[in-house]
Amino acid sequence: MKILVTGGTGYIGSHTVVELQNKGFEVVIVDNLSNSSAEIVDHIEEITGVRPVLEVFDLVDREKTADFFKRHHDIAGLIHFAAFKAVGESVEKPLKYYRNNLVALMNILESMRENKIKNIVFSSSCTVYGQPDELPVSENAPIKKAESPYGNTKQISEEIMQDTIKTADIHGIALRYFNPIGAHPSALIGELPIGVPNNLVPFITQTAIGLRDQLSVFGNDYPTPDGTPIRDYIHVVDLAKAHVVAIDRMVNQKMKKDFEVFNLGTGNGYSVLEVIKAFEKVSGLKLNYKIVGRREGDVIQVWADPGYSNKELGWKAELGLEEMVDSAWKWEQAYRGKTVKP
Ligand code: NAD
Ligand code: WQD
Repeated sequence: MKILVTGGTGYIGSHTVVELQNKGFEVVIVDNLSNSSAEIVDHIEEITGVRPVLEVFDLVDREKTADFFKRHHDIAGLIHFAAFKAVGESVEKPLKYYRNNLVALMNILESMRENKIKNIVFSSSCTVYGQPDELPVSENAPIKKAESPYGNTKQISEEIMQDTIKTADIHGIALRYFNPIGAHPSALIGELPIGVPNNLVPFITQTAIGLRDQLSVFGNDYPTPDGTPIRDYIHVVDLAKAHVVAIDRMVNQKMKKDFEVFNLGTGNGYSVLEVIKAFEKVSGLKLNYKIVGRREGDVIQVWADPGYSNKELGWKAELGLEEMVDSAWKWEQAYRGKTVKP
């Protein structure tokens, strides 16, 4: 069974391609390599023994997208990861984000309709909940006004999907990820931020490897037990596996509604200082960090109620925080070709 993975050379996409291929799916990747490299396909082949097809083009290009779908009208479903994701940059360049993230989705949905392709899984985000009024946050929690154009693209994308699905023979699943971290246990694929990382774990591992002098901890005066913000970190391999389950649910017609939403989190919240402690434990290193002022736009605390996903998808995140940071650290060292001993 053939599955299209857009953004399949990216961080979460590449891990998902591995899990799909492990389950026997045939994968075609579309990526414009704006935030990834074609070599990832070699690494996927090394892990799985199967080389996925990669087509390089921009999904914002309507004609190229239409041409692709005409040639691949036999795909059983697709997972749409391709998007820009830097929250800060989206505030500086909103149109870059609206164009890329929304036009690509619209082109895909149009081509799905034209070619009678029925199934789409979409990468959404817990950012749609903002600071939830109740924790843990379930799929029924209200959507809060987006803090950034990036976050807004996720909200609007879910709406575009819902409206389209009402009028076409298309089924959709939006997966709302909490904080994906970690890397494949082979250390052959992982997260590769361009430039200075915005996210916590890549900043930690880049500091430990010597690429950054110091990690800034953005505030310890929040109303949390240790004063630092709390997030639901989820291992990227657990996340990837949930996509295979979602695709399976769609192609085997197990959906309860034409458009479904699932939270992908562990249900456990960890503070910034707890993540640092876990890293120090698994690496045996002392991390150079400093408490600085709060980062604008950060929510205080958010973690998932994964109960509905656990029950309906029969999926559960299995890997713990130490396995997450350990795999991220092994990937950082493998990627830099450098081992850092305690
Ligand atoms: P990533 O940047 O590593 O992967 C995205 C891939 O899409 C990249 O390889 C990029 O080259 C490609 N791409 C972007 N625009 C494209 C276009 N117009 N045409 C073709 N290819 C294009 O990001 P990721 O972390 O793997 O995220 C994947 C998805 O998950 C994104 O939609 C992101 O918004 C969403 N998401 C990510 C996180 C996170 O923390 N990483 C959290 C929630 C949701
Ligand atoms: C986690 C915690 C920071 C870096 C972002 C997006 C969100 C989603 C996931 C896509 C926070 C603290 C971080 C640093 C720090 N992406 N931190 N020093 O902010 O929860 O979510 O990525 O949908 O939309 O906003 O993740 O990893 O940036 O931060 O102290 O150098 O680490 O303040 O408390 P965040 P993050």
